[in-house]
Amino acid sequence: MTAINTVVDLRKDGDIAVVTIDSPPVNALSADVRDGLAGAFAAIAGDAAVKGVVLVCAGRTFIAGADISEFGKPPRGASLHAVQDAMEGAPVPVIAAIHGTALGGGLEVALCAHYRVSDAKAKFGLPEVKLGLLPGAGGTQRLPRIVGAKKAVEMTTSGAQMNARDALAAGLVDEVVDGDLTTGAVAFARKVVAEGRPLKKVRDDNSKLGGDAASLAPMFADFRKANARAFNGFEAPEANIKCIEAAVALPFEEGMRVERSEFMKLMGGLQSAAQRHVFFAERQAAKIDGLDPKAELLPVRSVGIIGAGTMGGGIAMNFLSVGIPVTIVETKQEALDRGVAVIRRNYENSARKGRFSSEEVEARMGRLTPTLALEDLGQADLIIEAVFENMDIKKQIFGRLDAIAKPGAILASNTSYLNVDEIAASTQRPESVLGMHFFSPANVMRLLEVVRGAKTAPQVLATAMAIGKQIGKIGVVSGVCHGFIGNRMLGKRQEQANKLILEGARPSDVDRVLTDFGFPMGPFQMADLAGLDIGWSTETSKGETVRDRLCEAGLRGQKNSHGFYDYDENRNRTPSPVAEKIIDDYAAEKGINRRQIDDQEILERCLYPMVNEGAKILDEGMAQRASDIDIVWINGYGWPVYRGGPMFWAEHDAGRETIAAALERMGMDVSPRLKAGW
Ligand code: 3HC
Repeated sequence: MTAINTVVDLRKDGDIAVVTIDSPPVNALSADVRDGLAGAFAAIAGDAAVKGVVLVCAGRTFIAGADISEFGKPPRGASLHAVQDAMEGAPVPVIAAIHGTALGGGLEVALCAHYRVSDAKAKFGLPEVKLGLLPGAGGTQRLPRIVGAKKAVEMTTSGAQMNARDALAAGLVDEVVDGDLTTGAVAFARKVVAEGRPLKKVRDDNSKLGGDAASLAPMFADFRKANARAFNGFEAPEANIKCIEAAVALPFEEGMRVERSEFMKLMGGLQSAAQRHVFFAERQAAKIDGLDPKAELLPVRSVGIIGAGTMGGGIAMNFLSVGIPVTIVETKQEALDRGVAVIRRNYENSARKGRFSSEEVEARMGRLTPTLALEDLGQADLIIEAVFENMDIKKQIFGRLDAIAKPGAILASNTSYLNVDEIAASTQRPESVLGMHFFSPANVMRLLEVVRGAKTAPQVLATAMAIGKQIGKIGVVSGVCHGFIGNRMLGKRQEQANKLILEGARPSDVDRVLTDFGFPMGPFQMADLAGLDIGWSTETSKGETVRDRLCEAGLRGQKNSHGFYDYDENRNRTPSPVAEKIIDDYAAEKGINRRQIDDQEILERCLYPMVNEGAKILDEGMAQRASDIDIVWINGYGWPVYRGGPMFWAEHDAGRETIAAALERMGMDVSPRLKAGW
């Protein structure tokens, strides 16, 4: 074995050279890896005894792509294109041996091998679009030459992965190897050499593109149309499509030039910077200051959930879906039956859509134990309370749980606003108590705010974060404050939105400005969707707020087709003249002079106070880092990922100082951190 450098080895197995990359964690194409590969292929080119080459990776995966942490920094080491040219131009057959995930630049390297073999579990994809990019190492030109232009646009614009079986069928791999991958790949290389098979270069074969520019034009047009909504606001999907159009219309080298130019444009833009920030921020959020990442976690083999309403049911599904048994508790049989029926219906709908089999529905339902007795939670490792937001009721429940739960069980509240320390104080074991705040629909939304109480034990916190990951959530730690990270900031936006509609903006103006910014819906659409009468009742209504008056007038939101908007039978909305009159009358009564409010003012007043609140959250140590706040807003509240989250946006787009100055003009209390930076 010859070490080319610290991360690449070259050894010979008879006349087959085996090049091994060993660069944990994911064998990304760092400068060292590129240098090592350049060195290895140079050595091979000069060694007449080598008849074939196998390129393989050590560790958990084949090359998972370019090294994202190098992006935006001055270039170092051998260029990736030079490495690819050396492979593709090698005088002897090069075989890429793939396990784990061959992603992005990793797949693009493999596409420069003359043949590819993989194990049965390998996956293949070009996920650059998720980083606001496109495959910049020939992927947009080579992939369509194997899987066809149609599949290539689908894969590059979604980042979706292909499994080994489909890759074999598509010709993306030439053989799926049983047993040891390197041994199988070397045997395959010997076969290629013995049979004198050609040095197949993907770039030279146009036969699988699926047509020419004219015949494929309708496919591209249809694809754009079908995905217009999903791609709205994003720059990268269109750039990916353009490059694949170039692969179809132009000779390879010219297509490569289009790819290069589009790649550089995206790489220099703010969207990709934002999406790369989100990639690392997501992983960073899992790291908790002052906690040993290797510390032992508590076992979570069974879960108890209190409340079978929308939240409780959705939370239960997360655990049932990954094989963890759940006991769900309600106070009335009818509510329990209803909750269980909703869970079943959701699973059956998924099965009907082909996501899993009907046996799987039964397996999941089989893990659910409905009960009316809180005492049945005595053996649960984790208990999540999901009853409505009332401190007295929550305290009562936790007091009872204290007597019922086994020692060491984690006691979590799904509260979205309330003081977790106060809840914890109703038990004799505050160290076992914390908040686990899910977002509705809880079986779908990825965010989980994990609320660390003053006395929460580190092991309890770490276990809650780990179990969150296990059920597919992105956990973010928050301290105890009203509304935690997300709702606390949302409150600031809502306050301004409510004022704006009294001062002269229409609810539809506020919603439009925020949806144009990239939110999936605005605050008033959201209010209509949730129901205007949440927490409202005829008996107690005093007509003190706009919402009281809307409810009193019978406007309840989407549920009765009338709210800030009127809805037709297809849920198409038009601004409600009734709601507008109620707002106008209310403003007049309060002596508020309505005026013309422009879009920029709406945007600034809705978003700047949120950023300011984010800065205060950091000041108070309620969030560990600014990027955690970004992750909360992207995964829980629909902040557009291509704008990187509120704190990234403030720092790199709107400008912290601009925001601070505007807030001062608005007479707001500005966090010093907004000026100083985070
Ligand atoms: N560059 C740099 N670091 C990377 C990386 C990459 N491409 N991929 C993963 N990492 C790091 C992560 O930041 C993480 O670091 P940390 O432990 O310090 O937090 C570590 O590797 C492990 O990653 P995960 O926690 O994500 O591990 P998983 O096992 O859950 O997932 C994976 C592995 C599926 C490979 C996932 O990491 C992934 O999807 N990576 C990104 C793949 C990608 O986007 N590739 C395309 C890159 S762009 C490109 O290739 C451009 C080219 O066309 C020119």
